[in-house]
Amino acid sequence: MKLKIEIAGLKLKSPLILASGVLGVSYSSMKRFIDAGGGAVTSKSIGPESRRGYKNPSIIELNPGTFINAVGLGNPGIDEFLAEIKKIKDYRIPLIVSVFGDSNDSYLEVALKAEKAGADAIEINISCPHAEVSSIGIDAKLTKELVSIMKKQLTIPLFVKLNPNVTNLNEIALAAEEGGADGVVAINTISAMAIDVNTMRPILSHGSGGLSGNAIHPIAVKKIYDLYNVLKIPIIGCGGVSTWKDVIEFVLAGASAVQIGSALCNGMEILGTINEGIEEYMRTHDFGSIKEIKGLAHQFQLQEVPDFD
Ligand SMILES: Cc1cc2nc3c(=O)[nH]c(=O)nc-3n(C[C@H](O)[C@H](O)[C@H](O)COP(=O)(O)O)c2cc1C
Repeated sequence: MKLKIEIAGLKLKSPLILASGVLGVSYSSMKRFIDAGGGAVTSKSIGPESRRGYKNPSIIELNPGTFINAVGLGNPGIDEFLAEIKKIKDYRIPLIVSVFGDSNDSYLEVALKAEKAGADAIEINISCPHAEVSSIGIDAKLTKELVSIMKKQLTIPLFVKLNPNVTNLNEIALAAEEGGADGVVAINTISAMAIDVNTMRPILSHGSGGLSGNAIHPIAVKKIYDLYNVLKIPIIGCGGVSTWKDVIEFVLAGASAVQIGSALCNGMEILGTINEGIEEYMRTHDFGSIKEIKGLAHQFQLQEVPDFD
């Protein structure tokens, strides 16, 4: 009961949402996520046409729990995916469809088809560090323009997944808010590269990729903390969540819900363990809802640096 949240009108039984891309697009894996304790699922990013991903190696575990990937937005295309959306909805699974396109019109076309098929919300991917769509997420004007065009036509909530590989993330997030976004997802993977010292070449077939998992968690905490200072719309935290503490940390920084991706590589059981840990924390600290915890880290007065005379 205590785990229930509401975000942009979506009512979820747990604050844990599947992050885009990590489990692909099949309804069976989405159902396993919900059965294991998740609150909602986000599909892999879906584009207007089917698209092959990059060749292997496309993902490697750099250190335990930390990954680098460049899967290249491989996906079946929206028309093929519609049947899967319908199956997911037959199971009453709260579904956020992540969309991308190569123009404002194609983003909109994919999103409208997903909405018609039964999606509960749309997440726009303007942020993949290793594909062309990243160009929108590094530009405040383009972000605002895309969001406002989509908001005019969609009736379901619209979330914007932020690209952390920018100098001023707050500026992009504010542009999304001004465009009418119902929330932001922070953060996508961080641009990264690994080189094999023997072959003397980058390990991933694409060369560079995006870092996810444990290593990016503290970076995501700081981004959420800073976004909470400027945004009015809700923040969905994402990046390196693998324990209940990681979830609470995001909520204390200002997140209303949390996405989980890389940590699922060891199975879905982790979701039950995280939910139990959150409930135990709430019991210990006498919190009645996740909402009561949101942003509490901001009460802490940061110390002024003394002037040196
Ligand atoms: C294999 C893989 C594929 C991903 N595909 C997508 C995608 O299609 N769209 C997207 O917005 N993010 C994608 N992501 C990024 C994740 O949704 C998430 O933002 C990132 O992995 C950070 O969360 P985590 O540390 O919990 O994995 C992908 C991540 C991984 C590891």
